[in-house]
Amino acid sequence: MIPHPTGRALKTFQSRMLAWFRAHQRDLPWRRSRDPYRIWVAEVMLQQTRIAAVMPYYQRFLARFPTVQTLARAPESEVLKLWSGLGYYSRARNLHRAAKIIVASHDGQFPRRLEAALALPGIGTYTTAAVLSIAYDVPLAVLDGNVARVLARIKAIRGDLRHPKNWRALSAVAQTFLASQAPGDWNQSLMELGEVICTPQSPCCAECPVARHCRACVQGLTDEIPAPRRKRAPVHMKIAAAILRDPRGRTLLVQDPGAHDTVLFSRMWQFPALEVTRLAKAELEAHLRKTLAITEISLEALPTARHGVTFRNITLLPFLANVGELPKLPRTRILPLKNLSKLPISSATRKIAAAVAHPMTR
Ligand code: ADE
Repeated sequence: MIPHPTGRALKTFQSRMLAWFRAHQRDLPWRRSRDPYRIWVAEVMLQQTRIAAVMPYYQRFLARFPTVQTLARAPESEVLKLWSGLGYYSRARNLHRAAKIIVASHDGQFPRRLEAALALPGIGTYTTAAVLSIAYDVPLAVLDGNVARVLARIKAIRGDLRHPKNWRALSAVAQTFLASQAPGDWNQSLMELGEVICTPQSPCCAECPVARHCRACVQGLTDEIPAPRRKRAPVHMKIAAAILRDPRGRTLLVQDPGAHDTVLFSRMWQFPALEVTRLAKAELEAHLRKTLAITEISLEALPTARHGVTFRNITLLPFLANVGELPKLPRTRILPLKNLSKLPISSATRKIAAAVAHPMTR
């Protein structure tokens, strides 16, 4: 039995999904409130990031910024510090900018109107539909990777789901299936099903409340739908970074020197670094001479670390240099190595710093 968008089968399908969600939903912190701010922060953090990874960040972020007003008033560096390690830092910058706009132009209320929400920085169709439906019961269907997989299986839509033609078809399906009397629960029921039952590999159809309505399940096609995504070939790269250390145990960090991959370090505070080829040490020395005017330097190689960012496979090559004095230059910071976490830094920088404390080193 396949649900017809206007038929009784659709009603049955919707009520089975909603009943399942209401009985089995996980107790997630953003589900305990209808506060649009709390829902918005969660939805932004959950983009490209697993729930388990988000959880501690979410709790800390809301403890420090419990309202949109507290977020809007905070300096950007503090917002980034609380995001430090979560990745994709433009999300935090946009969240902060949007909070300021909400306070300045929307009376501190997340806008209810679709166009007004979409005009905020970093807020696209997914975030708008999620926040407006969950917080305000606006009948907008969400479509993310999980929901797309569930819908593609139910309707047996083949091919690459992210192909614009398929994505448009899935958006239309999402909107026709939407249970408009409970859009927030409806949207979350599809996300939840995708996360816990209708998983990419080996979905658990025996526990699925709508298995009878699912073409892929009925026809034994769950392994073929969705089609495996063609993965971008991994790019291997090496980044050498210098931990300069003065006699007082202080180090120097730079911001956006432009000579390195900004995707990796995201304009966060970081050790002087650059992408290298074979002669990492010599290349790093030349970089330090050029960007920091450091001439006399002796670099000691520390244990390497691995770092993955989407399709990039990065080997981090940390080097330690004890120096008499650290240069004082614009757009640099000098601070004790042990206080590094007081600044917004990325996980890559954390890994590089960890190499100094490695038992093989000290
Ligand atoms: N993924 C993104 N948003 C979510 C939500 N509200 N609940 C569960 N998983 C999600």
